Amino acid sequence: MALKKSADSRFRGEESDIRPTRVTIDLKQLAENYASIQHAIGNRKVMAVLKANAYGHGLVEIGQFFESLSLPYFSVAYLEEGIQLRKAGIKTPILVFGGLVKEQIDAYLEYDLTITAPSVEKLEMIEARAKELGKTATVHLIFDTGMERLGVHYYNARDLIEASFKVEHCVIEGIYTHFANADTADTSYSREQLERFKNILGIYEELGVSRPPLCHMANSGGVLQIEESWFDMVRPGILMYGVYPSAEVNRTIPVKPALSWTSKVVYFKVVQPGHPVSYGSTWESDEPVRVVTLPVGYGDGYFRSLSNKAQVLIRGQAFPVIGRVCMDQTMVNISDQSAFNGDEVTLLGADEFGNQLTVEDLAAWANTIPYEVLTSIGNRVPRVYLD
Ligand SMILES: Cc1ncc(COP(=O)(O)O)c(C=O)c1O
Repeated sequence: MALKKSADSRFRGEESDIRPTRVTIDLKQLAENYASIQHAIGNRKVMAVLKANAYGHGLVEIGQFFESLSLPYFSVAYLEEGIQLRKAGIKTPILVFGGLVKEQIDAYLEYDLTITAPSVEKLEMIEARAKELGKTATVHLIFDTGMERLGVHYYNARDLIEASFKVEHCVIEGIYTHFANADTADTSYSREQLERFKNILGIYEELGVSRPPLCHMANSGGVLQIEESWFDMVRPGILMYGVYPSAEVNRTIPVKPALSWTSKVVYFKVVQPGHPVSYGSTWESDEPVRVVTLPVGYGDGYFRSLSNKAQVLIRGQAFPVIGRVCMDQTMVNISDQSAFNGDEVTLLGADEFGNQLTVEDLAAWANTIPYEVLTSIGNRVPRVYLD
């Protein structure tokens, strides 16, 4: 397998080789995840969700990779993420999910990014600016069916639909809504949201107008559990990266993680009883122990809440993180075992002996969710791509 260095990593060229801490992404696995999802949903389209640095996997590289696989649509949360993709030469349509302020409209039009219109007022604002500039905006209308985040309420949907018939400088390409908890075992609330969305589609029928061509609702939970929500396109985020959105979700589609995070031993010592380890002196041994230091910390997204909780893999064995995780360094108790400077340490993912630390493990130790673990891995960690 070839190693490709991250193009927009802060550690270009040789520097990504000399940083002992790195994230490795298996592009082949990502392609398999996509194939698996596409197989499950038949002829519907898959939108690749690239927000938050492609869930930590690298915005531009993953965008380029999915473009090479001819995915039909991308999405990001923020305008700037879309601009970054365009500046890297990405041509695939890109929907920006996030809320819109007036000053952003020119950039949306300049970079040909699809705008989310969450209200009549915002749609009219987009229309007015597009008209002034003599351009046409591509727009998806968002309806709030139960998330209470963004979008016109389902019970006021008719207002936005009727307003969308009046615009001349916007192409209303899509309509969508978002599930609040499609990843729970009990899907009753999701089904209520689905009914509300279907009623919105019913408004088009009542008015005798065909709905916009891209109707979408399903995030990963929806893709896995609620077939009726697939419509024309699905938006699986975390599932594309090979991680299930929760422990309770029905694992109807096989996927595997593509990301691993490793570091190296950079220091070895014996710690004596009565000599506490790291800030705050929260860990102390009652016998001499061997301790190694790793060049990774919360400044890289290895959460401080992993202090005295997480495990790492060295030479095929799991060992505990001891004391507080520092900004750039972390200590590990290897007890009476051997480890040497330069030994590889697995923080997340599989080691060469077949042992594995999952993103769910890290999330549990840090009292958070897999999403936060992945999206928090910092820019300081170089990404390396296997293809
Ligand atoms: C509007 C929208 N669609 C789809 C997704 C993808 O969600 P998930 O990663 O749970 O599939 C997100 C992410 O939160 C989102 O905000």
